[in-house]
Amino acid sequence: MALAALLLPLLGLLLRPRPGAGMETPSMQKPSEVTGHVGQNVTLPCWLGALEPGIHVSQFTWEHQQPEGSLQPVATFHYDGRSVSREPRRMRFVAAKAGGNLTDASLMLSDLRVEDGGIYKCNIATFPRGTIVIKTQLLVLASPQNRVEPRQVWPPLTPGEPVPVALCASKRGWPPAKLSWHLDDSALNETIKEIQEQKQEPLSGTVSVTSLLLMVPSRSTDGRRVTCRVDHDTLAEPDLLHATVSVPYPPEVFISGYNEDWYPGQTNVNLSCDIYSNPEPVTVVWNTTTGTLPRSAEVQGRQLLFHNVEESIHNTTFTCLAINTMGTGQWNLTILLKAPPPAGEPSARQRAILPICLGVCSVIAIAIAALFHLRRCRARDPTQSRSSRNPDRIERMEQLNESEEGAICLTQVKNTAEEDTR
Ligand SMILES: *[C@@H]1O[C@H](CO)[C@@H](O)[C@H](O)[C@H]1NC(C)=O
Ligand SMILES: *[C@@H]1O[C@H](CO)[C@@H](O)[C@H](O)[C@H]1NC(C)=O
Ligand SMILES: *[C@@H]1O[C@H](CO)[C@@H](O)[C@H](O)[C@H]1NC(C)=O
Ligand SMILES: *[C@@H]1O[C@H](CO)[C@@H](O)[C@H](O)[C@H]1NC(C)=O
Ligand SMILES: *[C@@H]1O[C@H](CO)[C@@H](O)[C@H](O)[C@H]1NC(C)=O
Ligand SMILES: *[C@@H]1O[C@H](CO)[C@@H](O)[C@H](O)[C@H]1NC(C)=O
Ligand SMILES: *[C@@H]1O[C@H](CO)[C@@H](O)[C@H](O)[C@H]1NC(C)=O
Repeated sequence: MALAALLLPLLGLLLRPRPGAGMETPSMQKPSEVTGHVGQNVTLPCWLGALEPGIHVSQFTWEHQQPEGSLQPVATFHYDGRSVSREPRRMRFVAAKAGGNLTDASLMLSDLRVEDGGIYKCNIATFPRGTIVIKTQLLVLASPQNRVEPRQVWPPLTPGEPVPVALCASKRGWPPAKLSWHLDDSALNETIKEIQEQKQEPLSGTVSVTSLLLMVPSRSTDGRRVTCRVDHDTLAEPDLLHATVSVPYPPEVFISGYNEDWYPGQTNVNLSCDIYSNPEPVTVVWNTTTGTLPRSAEVQGRQLLFHNVEESIHNTTFTCLAINTMGTGQWNLTILLKAPPPAGEPSARQRAILPICLGVCSVIAIAIAALFHLRRCRARDPTQSRSSRNPDRIERMEQLNESEEGAICLTQVKNTAEEDTR
């Protein structure tokens, strides 16, 4: 068998006609291109139509053109049934049979590899016509497996230096996939750094491509969506793979809820501890700079509730401290209480109207009071009330009226006016 392996290609060479004698008969079907997938089987077709009478086929020979141009023998079939193949397990004639027609030289390649791709020459040696040559191009493809994943980000040794934030991988593809990165938020125009690597699988010859996306880690980088685009011959549309960048940073804390309008006796006001952090804080602590929280304050998660604002919290600095695995963050807020608003709490509009109202009201009040005064003074007329009163008192009243009436009545007017304006 080993001898045959050596002899048969030789035989093929001997049977091959001199240069220029080769012919490509129009009766042959000649597919120029065949596509196969790595790991699967493909048949390289090569056959003749009906053989003209008197023409005999003596041998089929397949050759594979190497990248540098030389021809490597692949398989040979001799009319008496002997056949030789470079890799018998993977390459065999599918139709050729001893004693048969010997018109079909089709060769099946199994468990396809990247290196199987290229141009094949099928030589059909006939007698007496010479060798018929049919060329076939085999295109080998491998669908890559693509994925993207965020990378654990560590703060760079040198601040401001880009570090890997996401990895995109296209495994076992052929030809090698093309990878590119895109930031979903294009408002931030920044240059992206990437590191690409290619690795060839030893047996199949497929190529795995990986690309690392590098960014300067910061709070603004955290949560950014990035897309890895994979372009490949086996894909009708490019594969768009999304990942969300996760950049850890210590908590950034802010206390909200205080509008500088708090006053003693106010009810149901709250402070909120707003925290931005990655990862989530493990501890959130409310405190004051004096070291204790006032009794009127109730901690409810990230909120500090004041059911009733007490005078004692005036000029108290509240702190919210948040701790995560990256560090701590704190915010300090000093509460200064205002004087309580007058009862009924006039609104801004009411306050604006008040002076006008006061003016108008006092005028009306004075008018009413003046009227009242007149009637009152008249009511004191001794001629009208004498019968019901003690004559002695009337005497005195008359005197009083004469001497002090004006003063008394004026005082009354003033009092009424004051009462009305209040
Ligand atoms: C011989 O070839 C012809 C034409 O290709 C086909 O019709 C016929 O069945 C073949 N005979 C055998 C025995 O294979
Ligand atoms: C490929 O060929 C091998 C043997 O050469 C065979 O065992 C296998 O079933 C074939 N696979 C397909 C998908 O035809
Ligand atoms: C980003 O900026 C560079 C130069 O600063 C510019 O050439 C490029 O067009 C910009 N890209 C986008 C998407 O704005
Ligand atoms: C404060 O929190 C309590 C309970 O969560 C809520 O009922 C109340 O409306 C809040 N007050 C303000 C001013 O947000
Ligand atoms: C509040 O702060 C004081 C000192 O500043 C500390 O001793 C105390 O433990 C803190 N309270 C809480 C609840 O952490
Ligand atoms: C708040 O207290 C500090 C001392 O703790 C004092 O220096 C400051 O004047 C006070 N401010 C007000 C508005 O009372
Ligand atoms: C809050 O006060 C503490 C001291 O009590 C100080 O160390 C810290 O820097 C202050 N933080 C802010 C944000 O002002």
